[in-house]
Parts: sequence; structure tokens; C-alpha cells
Amino acid sequence: MKDVKTIGVLTSGGDAPGMNAAIRAVVRAGLEKGFKVLGIMRGYNGLINEDMVEMDYRSVSNIINRGGTFLYSARSLEFKEDAGVEKAKETCLRVGLDGIVVIGGDGSFRGAADLSRKGIPCIGIPGTIDNDIACSEYTIGFNTALETAMDNIDKLRDTTQSHDRCSVVEVMGRHAGHIALNVGIACGATYIVVNEIPYDLNDVLAHIQKSRALGKKHFIIVVSEGVTDVYKMAKDIESATGIESRATVLGHIQRGGSPTVKDRVVASQMGWKAVELLAEGKSNRVVAVKDNDIVDYDIAEALSMKKTIDMNLYNMAKSMSL
Ligand code: F6P
Repeated sequence: MKDVKTIGVLTSGGDAPGMNAAIRAVVRAGLEKGFKVLGIMRGYNGLINEDMVEMDYRSVSNIINRGGTFLYSARSLEFKEDAGVEKAKETCLRVGLDGIVVIGGDGSFRGAADLSRKGIPCIGIPGTIDNDIACSEYTIGFNTALETAMDNIDKLRDTTQSHDRCSVVEVMGRHAGHIALNVGIACGATYIVVNEIPYDLNDVLAHIQKSRALGKKHFIIVVSEGVTDVYKMAKDIESATGIESRATVLGHIQRGGSPTVKDRVVASQMGWKAVELLAEGKSNRVVAVKDNDIVDYDIAEALSMKKTIDMNLYNMAKSMSL
């Protein structure tokens, strides 16, 4: 096993609140072990273009409370090609990088696996608001995104209620309904549309009519992105029920803001663990939460795992949303 002297850290893919806390943990854990630590800018592009900065204890002061990522992030197209990975490897050899911590989602871990195969040890940390990394019960940013979406939908409720309207709200999640399901429950949505269950407008209408018959006068419908056009859905609801309806897409607002306690703590634990793994000479691993513990998996194994929504939670929400 080669002695680890220098490590790097990068953020890749969509940013998520708590990424800065994870970077801070990687930097401080690395320094504590006597490593030189490099902050790699703009995801894998920073490796390809040798855009990196040496970090010290003060480089990561005052960032634990900040959303976004101070190393910037990117979805590097060049790194998707073997020539790009080869360039990144050459940079690593030139600057003497003995290991890299990659904070991001599935796509970022595929890149980490490619680089690990070329002999550059990489450890992944799940950072995405979507909570869609199958090997981990939790991904950095999810809790903050839930809080942000909840705050915004609470505000929508005020105006929806004042006008006896129906609000159709689209939340993020890429192909996963974890944000929609949890926020839908927290906001008392009349109906929650998730990617994992086939969408049926008639079922939504039937549910609205049922709750209307029980005296409900305003309605919040939470829809996970990518399932259907929420503007058309609002029009369809209005024409089928006569209830004035409006659509709102929360969008990237869900990715911003100061991370919650949970995101700061999990990010710190994961950053620390990733550096321990590199120090032990490990490579091609993803850090994960399992039964409230911080564990790690082989990247290929992690990427082959499947995650779905909690059907008990979904059924409970549907039954109590009348
Ligand atoms: O993965 C995080 C995420 O915010 C998804 O929820 C969303 O589908 C996607 O990224 C949006 O990506 P972009 O920032 O490229 O528009």
C-alpha cells in the first residue's frame, strides 16, 4: 500500500446544502492525519484543468453554515469520455494526489469508479437533495430541501386557503419521489404524486371530490418533478371540478439555504469517514448511512442497489389526507 501524503476533495453534480460541511470535515480530517489537502474546483473539471487550491484549517472557516459549495460544482461532460478521465489521472500523478473524496450523486460515483480503476483511489460521499442514492438511507441536503419546500408550501397554503383554491406544486427529486412524499405529508397535501406509482388524474380528481364532500374547501397537490405537466394538471383539475386551480414549480430554490443540523452533522460524519478510508488505503468505496451508523460500500455494489419509496408512508398519507 502506497503511503497517503496528499488528498483532494471535489463536489460534483447538483449542489446540496451541507456540501460545505462535508468539505470542511474532509479538509480538517486530512490535516489532522498530516496530509496535504487540495480543494479541487468545479468538480471533475478541476482535475482535468489542474484547477485546485491547497487548503488549511482557515480555508474552511465560516462555511459550515453556508449552502451551496464553495468549491463550485459541475457536471463535467469531458470527464464522461475516457480521454477526460485519462487527463484527470495524469493531473493526479503530476500533482501527487494519493486519493480523492468525491461529494455528489450517482453520476459522480460512476466517475469516481472510473478514476479508481485507473489507479487513483476515490471515495464517494452522497450529496444530493433527492435522497436517491440506494446504498444510503440518507443523502446530504435532503433535510434542508424538505424544510425549504415545506416553508414555501406553507406560504402557498395561506393564499390557497384564502381563495378556496387548489394549488398544484411541483417539487424536485429527479426520478425519485422522496421529497414529494415527505413534504406532502408535512404540508398536509390532499394528494401526493410520486414517480414510483403510476400517475392517474382520475384518482386525483376522485380524491379531491371525496375530501370536498367531507367539507374541504382548499386543496394542495404535491407532484414530484418529471411525472406530469403541473400547469396542465391544474387546468384539468379546474375544468373537471370547477375549483379555481394554480400551479407552482418550486424549482432550484429547494437547493439553496443554510443547511439544517441534520445535514451539517451527517456531512461532518461522512467527510471524516471518507478520509479514514483513504488513510486505510481503501479505494472505490461510497460512504453511507445504515441504521444510523456510517458504513461504506463498494461503488459498483452501491450503484447496483435499488431504492424505492416507503409504501407504508405513502398509504398512510393517502388515507389521512381527506
Ligand atoms: O439532483 C438534484 C437536482 O436538483 C434534481 O432534483 C433535479 O432534477 C436536478 O438536480 C436539476 O438539475 P440542474 O441543476 O442541472 O437543473
